[in-house]
Amino acid sequence: MVVCNPMTNESQDSFIRVKDITKIYDMGDSVVEALVGVSLEIEQGTYVAIMGPSGSGKTTFLDILGCLSRPTSGEYWLKGQKVSDFSEARLAQLRNHEIGFVFQNFNLLPRASALGNVELPLLYDGVPRRERVRRARESLEAVGLGDRAHHRPNEMSGGQRQRVAIARALVNQPSIVFADEPTGNLDSRSGESIMMLFNELHAQGKTIVMVTHEPDIAQHAERVISFKDGLAVKDVWQRKRENQS
Ligand SMILES: Nc1ncnc2c1ncn2[C@@H]1O[C@H](COP(=O)(O)OP(=O)(O)OP(=O)(O)O)[C@@H](O)[C@H]1O
Ligand SMILES: [Mg+2]
Repeated sequence: MVVCNPMTNESQDSFIRVKDITKIYDMGDSVVEALVGVSLEIEQGTYVAIMGPSGSGKTTFLDILGCLSRPTSGEYWLKGQKVSDFSEARLAQLRNHEIGFVFQNFNLLPRASALGNVELPLLYDGVPRRERVRRARESLEAVGLGDRAHHRPNEMSGGQRQRVAIARALVNQPSIVFADEPTGNLDSRSGESIMMLFNELHAQGKTIVMVTHEPDIAQHAERVISFKDGLAVKDVWQRKRENQS
């Protein structure tokens, strides 16, 4: 479907489209050019891996896609909306409803139970308690953790913590999942089980953009974009690896 914005007459047919994105960190006496002009498009339902050396701008780019930070210049369109022009309030709303974000270090609240952590996005949204608990339980069950609802993060394994984080990312049923090295802190077996979960999400039609250092992990994606020195320098489609039992 091609959607044309009558105000700008620009075609916005891609699910995600970025144009000439830069990100410059001003450090006072110096500047860091983390992204120097990234342009690319991602179609709905695609499973993308982003790879590249340390410091090449992968996290900076994913944070912009996930609306956790703004580009210094350039345009970002998501589902036909120019989010680079959004106010903070609209960005927060978009983050809460359209986007699920998964971090390498899980980013769970240590004092809250698994259920409490998964309920958080719903709490921000003002969902009543009973409904919150019901949906958070469902989300935990979907990642195979129905029996760990009352465990705190330090009472679970790394793989289980990441599952809680994924349940939290999914509780609002976002159409996109961004993940920054989701298996980076996990042993290879737990990493594989997280990849099985991602494969299921992809099969359900979600768009996934995942940063990883590990070629084995990137093989699960169908498109691999490589970053170097703040630019996307390589973009290849591949036959994605199916689950291994
Ligand atoms: N908040 C910040 N302030 C200043 N410079 C930053 C900031 N965040 C990142 N940078 C710099 O921007 C560049 C890109 O960093 P980024 O975190 O995007 O790299 P990366 O590709 O994710 O690396 P890694 O694989 O090590 O996670 C680096 O040179 C980094 O030092
Ligand atoms: Mg990074």
